[in-house]
Amino acid sequence: MRLLGKTALITGSARGIGLEFARAYIVEGAMVALADINASAVAAAAAELGPQAIGVQMDVTSQASIDAGFASAIAQMGHLDILVNNAALFSAAPIDEITRADYERLFAVNVSGTLFCLQAAARHMIASGKGGKIINMASQAGRRGEGLVAVYCASKAAVISLTQSAGLGLIEHGINVNAIAPGVVDGEHWDGVDAFFAKYEKKPLGQKKREVGEAVPFGRMGTAADLTGMAIFLATPEADYIVAQTFGVDGGNWMA
Ligand SMILES: NC(=O)c1ccc[n+]([C@@H]2O[C@H](COP(=O)([O-])OP(=O)(O)OC[C@H]3O[C@@H](n4cnc5c(N)ncnc54)[C@H](O)[C@@H]3O)[C@@H](O)[C@H]2O)c1
Repeated sequence: MRLLGKTALITGSARGIGLEFARAYIVEGAMVALADINASAVAAAAAELGPQAIGVQMDVTSQASIDAGFASAIAQMGHLDILVNNAALFSAAPIDEITRADYERLFAVNVSGTLFCLQAAARHMIASGKGGKIINMASQAGRRGEGLVAVYCASKAAVISLTQSAGLGLIEHGINVNAIAPGVVDGEHWDGVDAFFAKYEKKPLGQKKREVGEAVPFGRMGTAADLTGMAIFLATPEADYIVAQTFGVDGGNWMA
C-alpha cells in the first residue's frame, strides 16, 4: 500500500475521474475526503466507498465553502497530505457565441477554484511543517486551442500555468505541485462534450465520441482507471523530485 496513513481531499469527486481517484487512493491505504458541490451525490459516493471515505459538500467557487470544507475534512481526518484539484466544468461554443456569463462560470470553477483550493491546502501543509502533494487536473485542451472550445481550453492553460507558479513557489515548503493532462476520457463528462459537438458540428449523438476514440494513437478513449497510476505516483515520495510539471496521460494524443 503506497499511501498508507496518508489523507487526501479530492474536489469534484462525486463521480467520474475524481471518484475513481478516491477509490484508488483508498485501495492504497489512504483516507479520502470527497468534496463536491453535489451534496447528495457526494454523500452517496462516500458511503459506497466505506469507512476510509468522508463526504464533504463544497462549492469551489465560494471562499466560505472552501474554508468550511477544508476545515471539516481536516477536523475529521486529522491532517491533510494530498489535494487533488479535480472539479471542473466544460462548455463549447463558436467564438462569436461565447457569453460573458459562461466564461465567468467556467473560470470560477476551473481556475479560481483550483487556485483557492490549492491555497487552502498549501496554508495547512505549510503550518503543519510536513509538506504535501498537490495534483491539479489540467487537460490536453490546455496545450492548444480548439475553435469551438476556447473558454475551456484557456481555463486549462491557466491550470498548467498555475501548476508551474505554485510548483515553484511551494517547493521550499516541501509541497510538490504537479498536474495531469488527460486526453479524452469516457464518462458522463464526455457525454456532455459529445452533445455540444452534436449541436455545433451537426453530428448524431455518439459520433464525436467514436471519432475522438479512433483518433487516439492507443486506439480508444481513456477510462478514469487509466489515470489512477499517475495520480497515485504523484502522491508518493517517489515523486518528491518532480516539481511544477504537467504529465499527459492521453494514449499518445499529445507530445510535449
Ligand atoms: N473526461 C475527460 O475527457 C477529461 C479530459 C481532460 C481533462 N479532464 C478533467 O478531469 C477532471 C475530472 O473530469 P470528469 O470527466 O471526471 O468530470 P465530471 O464532469 O464527470 O465531474 C466533475 C465533478 O465536479 C463537480 N463540480 C462541478 N462544479 C463544482 C463546484 N463548483 N464545486 C465542487 N465541485 C464541482 C461535479 O458535481 C462533478 O461531480 C476535470 O478537471 C476535467 O476538466 C477530463
